[in-house]
Amino acid sequence: MDLSGRTAAITGASAGIGLACAQQLARAGVAVVLGARREDRLREAADRIRADGGRAEIMVMDVTVEAQVSALVQRARSAFGGLDIMICNAGFGYYGTVEETPPETMQRMMDVNFMGTFHGARAALPIFREQQHGHLVIISSIVGQRGVALMSGYSATKAAQVGFAESLRSEFAGGNIHVSVVYPVSTDTEFRHAMQRDYGHAVAGVGPRQSMEVVARSVVRCIRRPRPEVYPHALAKALAVLNAAAPGLTDRIVRRYSRQREITPSS
Ligand SMILES: NC(=O)c1ccc[n+]([C@@H]2O[C@H](COP(=O)([O-])OP(=O)(O)OC[C@H]3O[C@@H](n4cnc5c(N)ncnc54)[C@H](OP(=O)(O)O)[C@@H]3O)[C@@H](O)[C@H]2O)c1
Repeated sequence: MDLSGRTAAITGASAGIGLACAQQLARAGVAVVLGARREDRLREAADRIRADGGRAEIMVMDVTVEAQVSALVQRARSAFGGLDIMICNAGFGYYGTVEETPPETMQRMMDVNFMGTFHGARAALPIFREQQHGHLVIISSIVGQRGVALMSGYSATKAAQVGFAESLRSEFAGGNIHVSVVYPVSTDTEFRHAMQRDYGHAVAGVGPRQSMEVVARSVVRCIRRPRPEVYPHALAKALAVLNAAAPGLTDRIVRRYSRQREITPSS
């Protein structure tokens, strides 16, 4: 896809991977509509993009509310005349055993991580079908390919996105509507701070890491030249292959390299 003059809607664009995607797409000439809940952060991000010469609008929204996701997509059409790219990115994690995971937290995580993606697809795909082109990009996680210790609920929400994306891909295979799923490993964003802020878990990744700019660059590359799956870190793909061949061995490897509780003076 030639990016210049295109329009993208991005959920979870007030921070982290979503914001990095918005910035890089805007630099490539894409008009971006940034969606998330924190209005001050969205305004600041859009102002920065405009100051750099890009085109940006914001929509304060919660991905769990279908009407608000539709409003995000409608903002793209009203402000910029269309929608070519939908990035379903908003999400959060939870760390702990199953017994430590309150059902209402699990429900919320499914609502944000999976239902938010479902709502994004339901808002964007009618437009893509009508114009016979478009790209739906779903930010999952390597844990959606291969679950990790003490993040069972989160891993399940990310795996749900993968099944959803694969099914959609086969529906649209061979045409000009593309669906891609992205599998980042631990990425330096506000993700772990959000877990600490909302649930009091101080956890850190001990395996391979990458920056949000690296993830965003691979997303932009995938939009230019659509691919079904994107592994921004090479080791993530190796893990997926290893898991298919030797799941028992992979259990022990991911246990060792999963996120771990940080030992703080107060804990
Ligand atoms: N960081 C990692 O290690 C990592 C690894 C693999 C995959 N991922 C995935 O990457 C995606 C982005 O995460 P990140 O690392 O960039 O985390 P982040 O820095 O915490 O950003 C999360 C974004 O989602 C938004 N958000 C959260 N709940 C929302 C809701 N209900 N409605 C609308 N927006 C919401 C947040 O904005 P507001 O708070 O303003 O709403 C924020 O903009 C997630 O799907 C995550 O699962 C992250």
